Amino acid sequence: QRGDLLAGRQVLISAGPTFEDIDPVRFLGNRSSGRMGFAIAEAAAEAGASVTLVAGPVNLATPAGVQRIDVRSAREMHAAVLGAAQNCDVFIAAAAVGDFRPAEVALHKIKKRGDGGLSLELTQNPDILADVAALPRRPLLVGFAAETENVEAYARAKLERKRLDLIAANQVGSGLGFEVDDNSLTLISADATLRLPTAPKRELARQLIDVVAQRLRDRGTD
Ligand code: C5P
Repeated sequence: QRGDLLAGRQVLISAGPTFEDIDPVRFLGNRSSGRMGFAIAEAAAEAGASVTLVAGPVNLATPAGVQRIDVRSAREMHAAVLGAAQNCDVFIAAAAVGDFRPAEVALHKIKKRGDGGLSLELTQNPDILADVAALPRRPLLVGFAAETENVEAYARAKLERKRLDLIAANQVGSGLGFEVDDNSLTLISADATLRLPTAPKRELARQLIDVVAQRLRDRGTD
């Protein structure tokens, strides 16, 4: 019965892009629509979990029964996720977190100066997944790897480097992955590779939740 799969479980999900302000009118962002993460939140709630969804700036309705926290920058997302991560059973990091932010945010709109260019100094953002992995009570960790080439090889390397339990790898670019309804995912763990063929994100989300529920049962946590 689907509604019992994750009964009593706390599921934390990050979704969408992050926006890093340059000045009051400009920002650095990325093309994540948030649809995959929102679909996972919906599937987790349908499976009976108590779901917290930390969402970057997206244009999507909150799935039924999901507690949503809206954030804008990577640092805000980091604070919201770490605040909710202490007692979750699973963290599914589906957000496309910006790796860099401007070293300083200009108080006023940056003006053109003659014909010269402009250099922006960037600083690295915190790695949310790595900080959740370092918590004393480490939840089951599911990462995403969106790549334009060598998808499975890069994903497997990321699984090991970030010490994840599971990584969902997908190809992005040329009409795939971002801003579209269909996707295909490969779920990679230390001992298995499961290729999910192209399907609507809602269907892929259900299959991912099935695998997560199985992993939690195997782990024997309650
Ligand atoms: O950006 P990258 O491909 O390394 O992302 C891999 C995984 O790490 C994704 O699940 C993403 O949500 C997560 N991540 C994160 N914090 C960052 C960068 C990535 O949680 N600063």
